[in-house]
Amino acid sequence: MAPSSDLQSALNPRGREADLIHELSTVLFVGGAVIFALVLVFLVVALGVRRRDAERPPRDRGHGRGKIRAVVTAALASAAVLVALLIYEFGLTRSLVAHAGDALPLRVVAHQWWWEVIYLDDSSQIVARTANEIHIPVGRPVAIELESRDVIHSFWVPNLQGKVDAIPGRTNRVVLSANEPGTYRGQCAEFCGLQHANMALYVVAEPPAQFHAWLEHQRSSAVAPADELAVEGQRVFMNAPCALCHTVRGTLAMASAGPDLTHLASRESLASGVLANTRGNLAAWFMDPQHTKPGTHMPATHLDSASADALLHYLQTLK
Ligand code: CUA
Repeated sequence: MAPSSDLQSALNPRGREADLIHELSTVLFVGGAVIFALVLVFLVVALGVRRRDAERPPRDRGHGRGKIRAVVTAALASAAVLVALLIYEFGLTRSLVAHAGDALPLRVVAHQWWWEVIYLDDSSQIVARTANEIHIPVGRPVAIELESRDVIHSFWVPNLQGKVDAIPGRTNRVVLSANEPGTYRGQCAEFCGLQHANMALYVVAEPPAQFHAWLEHQRSSAVAPADELAVEGQRVFMNAPCALCHTVRGTLAMASAGPDLTHLASRESLASGVLANTRGNLAAWFMDPQHTKPGTHMPATHLDSASADALLHYLQTLK
């Protein structure tokens, strides 16, 4: 997994919207630098004129009218530049939220401190539900409805789009797209409590055929336990607090306080991008989540080692 550092960077745009933002920041930065340099030049010239003026006898000094003309010209030039930039920005920002008709509908719900990801069909019916990992097809815009269940969060995948706040009681819309396959890291960008910094996600952009195969798999129910240890693990899951907060589709666990675990083992990370999804990390996470994410709403699971082993085995079968 571990994407390189340029896979969480607005300076490395990998989609149409990120390209536009990158263009906007380049124009504003370069334009700002040029204007700053020009202002410095005029300042130096003005100081020179003033000093030469002061050395002359009073009757030869420059007239006030010339100075006023210079000030008016400079003010008009500044206003013209600002208005031009404003029109450019408005135009660019509009095309930032526009998209072609066949966008993939998706709902992302921010929670303290994880991301719920819901795939929808054209009539807004739920197709599949996952967490902290968004798969998207390369080359197709994704139209996201962004919500929050608790406090204000901010959804930010810098390689693909700018920040958009997730606000309780409100649905914000954001469009993003990727123009090449890759795994891009996103991060909550609005302080939302203790584990704000540990509220990450991954966007996996893949070729359309691969994406559709993934989505087809995600919409299926969990596999039934295939061996004795998995059967025991599922029993532990149902009797430990796990089933009170999580869903495993196809079983009696149907709670929605925490992430849907139906295909937990197919994900790249645990605990919202904090841990790689390995056997050791998974055990460490469910035995003592407060160690990894102090303040997380997931309580520790008090299990003897045999039960923990069975639970671990069962969770790892949830591919
Ligand atoms: Cu969620 Cu910061």
